[in-house]
Order: sequence, then structure tokens, then C-alpha cells
Amino acid sequence: MNDGQKIYGVAYIPEGKNGRISLVICCHGLGGSYITNEDYAVFLASRGIAAYCFDFRGGGGSRSDGETTDMSIMTEVSDIEAILDASSQWEFVDPDQIVLLGTSQGGAASAIAAARHKDEIAGAILLYPAFLMHDEIHRQFASLDDVPDSFFFRWITLGRVYAEDIWDYDVYDEIKNYDKKVLLMHGDEDDIVPIRYSERASEVYPDADYYVIPGAGHGFYGEAKIIALLMMVLSMVFLFTACSGGGNSSGTQSENTTEASSASDASTDTAADDTAKADGNILVAYYSYTGNTEAVAKQIADLTGGDLAEIQRKEDYQDLQTDAKEEIDQDIRPEITVSVENVEDYDTIFVGYPIWWDEAPAMISTFLDSYDFSGKTIVPFCTSSSDEIDNSLHIFSEICPDANIAEGLTANDDADIEPWLQRLGAV
Ligand SMILES: Cc1cc2nc3c(=O)[nH]c(=O)nc-3n(C[C@H](O)[C@H](O)[C@H](O)COP(=O)(O)O)c2cc1C
Repeated sequence: MNDGQKIYGVAYIPEGKNGRISLVICCHGLGGSYITNEDYAVFLASRGIAAYCFDFRGGGGSRSDGETTDMSIMTEVSDIEAILDASSQWEFVDPDQIVLLGTSQGGAASAIAAARHKDEIAGAILLYPAFLMHDEIHRQFASLDDVPDSFFFRWITLGRVYAEDIWDYDVYDEIKNYDKKVLLMHGDEDDIVPIRYSERASEVYPDADYYVIPGAGHGFYGEAKIIALLMMVLSMVFLFTACSGGGNSSGTQSENTTEASSASDASTDTAADDTAKADGNILVAYYSYTGNTEAVAKQIADLTGGDLAEIQRKEDYQDLQTDAKEEIDQDIRPEITVSVENVEDYDTIFVGYPIWWDEAPAMISTFLDSYDFSGKTIVPFCTSSSDEIDNSLHIFSEICPDANIAEGLTANDDADIEPWLQRLGAV
């Protein structure tokens, strides 16, 4: 709880560890969720380190309470403080070994929280932290008086408080006070948070290990993610040599369930033909920019026994905000790669994507257009900050008129996935 509002989270606790152990609190970026950093949490738990992933209040598709218009980087700092207070009492946590891990805006919030609580936070792991928020808001508004009660920022509706809280705030002036170990990592192809923001952070921190990941963008995948995972475990071992034993690799998940029911999304999205059933062999194809949809795709593949196929844009965006929007608006079909070759051998194809400006990214149109899906069953699913899948569904019947389009899902709540698969007859 924070300020009378519930915070939803999931703890990843290594099995086979007795006594109190280190805890990494994982903080997601703007529009993300506890799922964003799940891979890090699972890996840490497999190395004997507990992790806690949560949804910030007002985070968008958040299972925690609060509206996006009441959220700011400072309310996120306050959420981290609330979790810090609570987690230091958990029986499996060594309160002297609590580390913050933050990605993007969660990285900036973690850095601020660490500076404000340097006696309680043993270390900070910052992945492509969004230290640009002050500059971004100043770019969008000439003065604080120009900021309306609510406004669209990137892809999310924010309130005045978001701008007010950082208008005169110098993040570097505060974070420089954190004198414990900081692991700072940034991709040199990040087109959302330019790398210079981390370069500057590396200069102000008294004790930062700063790594540039060649070729990585905003969000680490593949090799970049492996490097990040290894670096963070090494850092943890370095910080607390006692942690290096590792627990049972499976670990356990413990969910703070009190909030789950109140914050869950409806799972009743309907598509053109909600009587279509999953049938035969299953492919779970997905495009994911920051990892949320990928995490859902993996769950669907696990539950259904389907194969995974990753859709990628052949070339990275030069400027995501303008290029991606223009592609959608003008129905441009960018070139893609798909990680399996025999897409047409499958009878049921799940197609997952993040919602971008209330639509599917243009790569999904390219994918649908690239194969003959006549007579096959296509099952759309998406993740988003807040928007439902409905508005994005039109492309399926437009591009694949002879396919059976099954009930789609806005998969922002894990609890919705299995019942939906059951309705489809896929499990
Ligand atoms: C360019 C862009 C546009 C977005 N537009 C929206 C939007 O219109 N509505 C929404 O609810 N979320 C929007 N989001 C948030 C994403 O849909 C959300 O974070 C999603 O879970 C990301 O999935 P991924 O991690 O698989 O990329 C947008 C994100 C980006 C990067």
C-alpha cells in the first residue's frame, strides 16, 4: 500500500535458500508493468537472489491502483520507498542487501530513491535510465503554465503533476549523492533515451561501473540481455559475496494477491469471429519492442505447447515516434524477419503485438500480408499501457478476409490468459 492505494507485485524467491537473502526490487519503465523485468527476476532467483517486480501506481495497464494522470516520477519514487519499507520486513529478505534495478523511467526513479535512501539501498542497477524526462517535458511545453491538466506524452495520458514534479528538478544534482555501487548499462543505438544521459550519470556517480552495449536499443534483447543478466549477477556477487551460492534454479513465485482482483482488466475482448477455435498445431508469432508481449507469447506457447516465432523489423527505426506512427497512418508495410520459416504449416497462429497509438505496429500488417492464411485460425493478442485490443483488430479481417479470426485478448493481466485459452479450446 502507498498513500491508501494498493501496489501489485510478484516476488521471485529462490528455492532451497534458508535464512535472509539479498533482494532486487525491479522497477519498470513508462507504460511497462511487473512483467517487463520478469526475465531479470527469474534469472536472479535462479542464482539464489530474490527479486520483486511490481506495477507502479498509475502505470497505465497497471494492476496497482491509481490513474496515469496522477503519476509522476516522484510518485514512482514514493512507490519504491513504500516497497522498501515493506520488503525490509519480509522474513526471507536481508534488509542490508536490498538493491534497486530499474529500466528506463524505472531506472531514473530507482536512481532518485537510491540517493534518498543510501543507507538502506546497497546498490543500484540502472538499465537505459530515462534521465531525459526533464528535457522531454521542456521540449513539449514552453512553460509550466502551458501544461494542461492532462496531456498525451509519447503514448500515455499524463497529468500536470508529471510535469510539475520535474520542471525545476535536476536529477543529476540528486543522484550524485549516492556513493554506493551503481551498475549502469545503456545501448549505443537507443533511440528513445540517447546514451549521453547515461554518460553524464557515469560522470556524476562516485562509484559507477558504466557499460555501453554495442548495437542495443531501448530495451535489451538476445545477446544484450544475456550481457545485462551476467553483469548484474556479477555485481551482486561483488556486493555480497555471501550470495554467490545460488539456489534451486526453479525458484518460486509469490504473488501479492490482495490487489490483483481489483486491478485486473476485463478479458472479454471480442474479435470478428469469437466462435473460431484454436485447432491443430499452434504457432505463437509476436512482435515485441520492450519485452511485454514477448513474455505473454512465451506463456501462451508454454500453456498450449505451441511454437514461438519472433517477428522483427528488418531495420531499426531511426526515430520510433515519427517513423512508426507514419507507417501505421499510411499503411506502410516495413520489411520484417520471422524466426521460423514454415509459418504456413501451422493451423492456428496466435499473433501478438504491443498497442502503438491504439493500433498494431505496421510489422503485424506485413506479417499478415506475407502468408496465405485462408482457412486458418488467427488469434490476436496484445499488451498495452491502457488501451484495449479492439481498435487494432480491423487489420486482421482486412488483410486476411478468408481466415477465421478468433477472440482476441488484451493480455495485460496474466490471470486472463489461461481462461481465454480455455475458451478457445487451446488448452
Ligand atoms: C511507440 C509506442 C506507442 C504506444 N502507444 C500506446 C497506446 O496508444 N496505448 C497504450 O495503451 N499503450 C501504448 N504504448 C505502450 C505499449 O503498448 C506497452 O508498453 C506494451 O506493453 C509494450 O509491449 P512490448 O514490451 O511488447 O513492446 C505504446 C508504446 C510505444 C513504444
